[in-house]
Amino acid sequence: MKRRKFIQKASLSTIGVVAAVNAVGCETKKEENSTALVLKDPVRPLVIATWNTPLAVNAAAEALAKGGSALDAVEYGCRVEEANEKGQSVGKGGLPDRDGNVTLDACIMDSKGNYGAVVCVENIMHVISVARKVMEETPHVLLAGKGAEQFAVSQGFERENLLTEASKKAWEKWKVKSEYKPIINIENHDTIGMLAIDKDGNISGACTTSGLAYKLAGRVGDSAIIGSGLFIDNEVGGATATGLGEEVLKTVGSFLIVELMRQGRTPQQACEEAIGRIVNKPDSNFKNFQVGYIAVNKQGEYGAYSIHEHFSYNLYKDGENKNHKSDFYNKK
Ligand code: GLY
Repeated sequence: MKRRKFIQKASLSTIGVVAAVNAVGCETKKEENSTALVLKDPVRPLVIATWNTPLAVNAAAEALAKGGSALDAVEYGCRVEEANEKGQSVGKGGLPDRDGNVTLDACIMDSKGNYGAVVCVENIMHVISVARKVMEETPHVLLAGKGAEQFAVSQGFERENLLTEASKKAWEKWKVKSEYKPIINIENHDTIGMLAIDKDGNISGACTTSGLAYKLAGRVGDSAIIGSGLFIDNEVGGATATGLGEEVLKTVGSFLIVELMRQGRTPQQACEEAIGRIVNKPDSNFKNFQVGYIAVNKQGEYGAYSIHEHFSYNLYKDGENKNHKSDFYNKK
């Protein structure tokens, strides 16, 4: 049984990506007519990232322009946000947990289906690069906490204090009331998730975050968890998430979107259905939190959808890098 044989030539989609599904992924008798994917003038290179992240997307696009892989592009792009101290939801300057410690989660996935991740890491700014090291230099896929930090140091990463004065002040202000509730669209920014298609049509993705502000110590969100915060299947496409990680985890959102695209949904339709799985739960309290998804397929079509207004994404294609407003569910 070869998993990759199940994408067959049959027109299920409006996008030129033609796919049909054998539910169990087995070879079928129609296999002799199979092609992996039939693409019509695919858009490449392409980069898409959550929120208003022009500099990160520029860095990724530059990497692609220099002939870099999609994997290089998403790593370099995410590093820009990790180093941006003004962004209080990613990397250095991220808002801390309720005890005042900045803990970071990140993951990366390449076009061969490899994955590397770190969770709850302190004192290391470029956790996306540590995640890549986990993927490329260890037999494991996910390292946590002190072990991840020690691994990073063994790989040449330097320890530093990630709590900036601005984030420390914000935490001290929060401590006065210690109210714990997720805030919709914190400063119109949150986790950065990024997807890229390189000139050869290979897709990779990365996702990095400091997680929920003032979370319980040890809390891990969706961003570093394969299938939730990020998923790539190079024969189909990729998806990544931002927003309240608990809700993304409970619906395995990014994997869901990729599987829906495999079944013929456009990236936009797939993102909308993934949001639907959250808001249509019997006791969903979606009015109190935000989740946003972006997705891209092998053809270079893309989609974005969120629960609430004000989610946006940066898109680089045809040589231009622009921020776009996402459509959203809660029109009230
Ligand atoms: N999406 C980021 C988090 O919930 O940690």
